[in-house]
Amino acid sequence: RDQASVLEDVRQGMIPAHIYNDDEIFALEKERVFGRAWMFLAHESEIPHAGDYVVRRVVDDSFIVSRDESGAVRAMFNMCLHRGMQVCRAEMGNASHFRCPYHGWSYKNDGRLVGLPFHGEAYGGEEGFRKKGQTLLPAPSLDTYNGLIFVSLDPAAPPLREYLGDFAFYLDFYTQQSAEGIELVGPQRWRVKANWKIGAENFAGDSYHTPHTHSSVVEIGLFREPKASKRKEGALYWAGRGGGTTYKLPPGTLDERLRYVGYPDEMIARMRATWSDAHLAMVGDDGFMVSAASAFPNLSLVHNWPKVEDTESDDVTPFISLRQWQPVSADETEVLSWFAVDRNAPQRFKELSYKAYLMCFGSTGMFEQDDVENWVSITSTAAGSMARRLRLNSRMGLLADDKPVSPPLAHFSGPGVAYVGFGEYNQRAMLRHWADALEAPPPEEGTVDLGGTS
Ligand code: FES
Repeated sequence: RDQASVLEDVRQGMIPAHIYNDDEIFALEKERVFGRAWMFLAHESEIPHAGDYVVRRVVDDSFIVSRDESGAVRAMFNMCLHRGMQVCRAEMGNASHFRCPYHGWSYKNDGRLVGLPFHGEAYGGEEGFRKKGQTLLPAPSLDTYNGLIFVSLDPAAPPLREYLGDFAFYLDFYTQQSAEGIELVGPQRWRVKANWKIGAENFAGDSYHTPHTHSSVVEIGLFREPKASKRKEGALYWAGRGGGTTYKLPPGTLDERLRYVGYPDEMIARMRATWSDAHLAMVGDDGFMVSAASAFPNLSLVHNWPKVEDTESDDVTPFISLRQWQPVSADETEVLSWFAVDRNAPQRFKELSYKAYLMCFGSTGMFEQDDVENWVSITSTAAGSMARRLRLNSRMGLLADDKPVSPPLAHFSGPGVAYVGFGEYNQRAMLRHWADALEAPPPEEGTVDLGGTS
């Protein structure tokens, strides 16, 4: 089937099953989704000091994300200007310079070429080949939001804030609980034989899978939710470039600490001092607390509050995780999972929250393992010839005439459009962005020319 009809089906909520394992589609995604979108690379708290760096990938491209001597954050293509060796092979560290392992060219941590063995003999010194002006290739576009460092391979990318749109409002709940923001632990990294889109769609709004896929976690008694949050009248919202799920915690029936899902009083006080009136109204008046979310294309966030201590009380411990679905191929994804916590949180809370995270997500997380079994199965089945004849039904929440089963929430303090109840509104929104990206002409290349040896 031709691309236009595949994308048309996707827009109708009828998804050609093979899009979850198709090499041709993956080649197009690399060019038109990952060649243009803003993608999360790291958080500023991972490189707090001059010289700190982490090495991260955007699909096939490796970048050194460093803080240079002046304090500026850089993202530099990790490929030597000489013969293309990977300049930095460590995953993280602190360095004033990076020396290429092959022939020893060296670069300052802002990317400038400063050392060249046998410069005189091999190149005729500065007259023959000037080092000045030679730098590791910078990422075409780099921008930050609340300390989250994003890059785009498109030199003409719109400003990050514009790209995120109103989803930025929801990002604040996860990444700005106080003026100093979050710190990250991790990432844990592992590979799963699953297509990258499945995780991103799941976190964007698949609250429908929770009672079934994750029932065993509750049944075996390792995860108990507080009685109060059993009333799950959450809302699904989509705003700008992302969307997610919220839990409804009824106001009036709960004390404030429970509406803020178990945070210590001092953290609640800082949230109230940091967030806007609209943020506070969403939690305090409306009783909606953000849960899982995704930003197109492959960043997801989760906020949950399990019971981690084996006591009779209903006390819960909230945790936040950032995760990225980094594509390896049409049928493989590298998952990166970070624990995130407010920098100002009390130490005891940080420890308990980390425990809550490890219990639920990350390589030891029980939710993670339940989810991945499904996603691997979808991906392997999507490779077969029958999958090319099947259109998956992703129309939950829509009537036959495309009207929603229930109208959008008239009063929702957050931006965007929100619905209550089950519905695949967000998965469809995510795939509409995907279809639009695949349909758009490929981004321009070649306008970043600060590197190179000519
Ligand atoms: Fe890096 Fe030669 S490839 S110095």
